[in-house]
This record gives sequence, structure tokens and C-alpha cells, in this order.
Amino acid sequence: MKIEVAFTPAELAGIDLGDRVVVVLDVLRATSTIVEALANGARAVSPVSTVDEAVRLAEALGREGVLLAGERRSLRIDGFDMGNSPLEFTRERVSGKQIVLTTTNGTVAILASATARRVLIASYLNLGAVAEELVHDGGPASIVCSGRERRFALEDALCAGALVRRVSERTDGAFELNDAARAAVDLFAAYGADLAGAFARTAAGRQLIDAGLEADLEYCTRTDVHAVVPELRDRQIIS
Ligand code: MLT
Repeated sequence: MKIEVAFTPAELAGIDLGDRVVVVLDVLRATSTIVEALANGARAVSPVSTVDEAVRLAEALGREGVLLAGERRSLRIDGFDMGNSPLEFTRERVSGKQIVLTTTNGTVAILASATARRVLIASYLNLGAVAEELVHDGGPASIVCSGRERRFALEDALCAGALVRRVSERTDGAFELNDAARAAVDLFAAYGADLAGAFARTAAGRQLIDAGLEADLEYCTRTDVHAVVPELRDRQIIS
């Protein structure tokens, strides 16, 4: 089994993803939120890049049963029903609903991966379930970190390392890694014992703390809380 890590979506540019399973990570917070929403019974999540697109899509879908969600600079977008905190996407709030979501980095990375054979959504919340699915699939995998404004984001690289390690535990070493995957495993070994501490020192973590959203940091470090493996199908993420 071949596993590659890309520390930013730009590393995928020009690569034919047709034979790959792409796993998208945006631990703080987009992919954590998508996992939480689907684990709590949302019907689907539609990722879009811009605020205008989100508003237009929600109107086209008809506002009945549709929630408009998203952030800019970590704060809920004016006029939207919800922001991007996984703690908002409770069963009471999202069960049976369709969610239209736009975020700064995560939804952009998901759409940039859409030409892949499969696109899976991962976070610490569903880490083990995604590792199981990758082993089950067996095909070449690219783990894509959403990054932050097209730059390296430590929180995503740590989760990529944790995921590679989980897969390696299930494949008795029968796999091939690229250098970024090796580096991600070593980073997780170095920081993994205190994820919340590491997150609080990242740029994304500091922005969340400044926005009064530190509870999200702790929640996004929780591991194997959910067994869902969200997958992108025809521009919608379902589980
Ligand atoms: C993103 O996609 O950039 C993040 O999820 C932003 C955030 O939630 O603060």
C-alpha cells in the first residue's frame, strides 16, 4: 500500500488523482465539524468555496431543512445560521438537515481533491474509522492537509502523522511512504502526547483562542469519538 502526505493542497496541483483515495484533513476545524455533523444525523454537507456560492446554493435548495454554515477568521459569517464550531452541530440542531458549508481552507481543499477516485473526510474524531477504511480500500492514498492560507499548518500535519501510524499498525509495515508521511509520523511522535498544548501554540489555535473558541481546541483533539467515514459524492459529503 502506498501512502503519501501533502502538507498543502498546492502539492496536488497537476497530479492525476484518478487512481487515488484522497483523505482531507482540516482539524481546526472544518473536517472535525463535518464529521460531527454527519455523526449527529445531518443528511449531507455541501462544501463550497465562497460566501456568495453558499447563499445561492442554500436558496436554490430551498431554505426548508437547509442550514447555512461557515466562518471567516473563525467567526460565524453574518446572516448564516451557524459558524464552524463542531460543538454547534448537535443532534438536536442538525439531525435530518442538509448543511451548506463554506470555510477559509477546509472546503477549498475538499473541492481541490474532487477529481480523485474517492475523497474521504478525516479528523481525530474519526481517526480509527478512516484508517480502517484505507486499509480496506487498499489503493494508493494521499492524505492532504488543508493548511492555513496555502501554508503549512502543524495541527493538520500531526493528524496526518497519527493517521499514517494507525494504518501502519494495521498493515504490518507492508506500505510505502513519501518523505512528508515520514516527517508527519515523526512530528506526531514529538507532539502527540500533548495535542491540546500543541494546538494552542499553532496560528489556527491562537486565532480560535482570541475568538473565545478555546473549547473547540480541546474537542478537536478527542480521538475515535465517532465511527463515521464521510465521503464526497457528487459535490455532497455523506456518510
Ligand atoms: C478553515 O477551513 O479554514 C477552518 O476550518 C477555519 C476555522 O474553523 O476557524
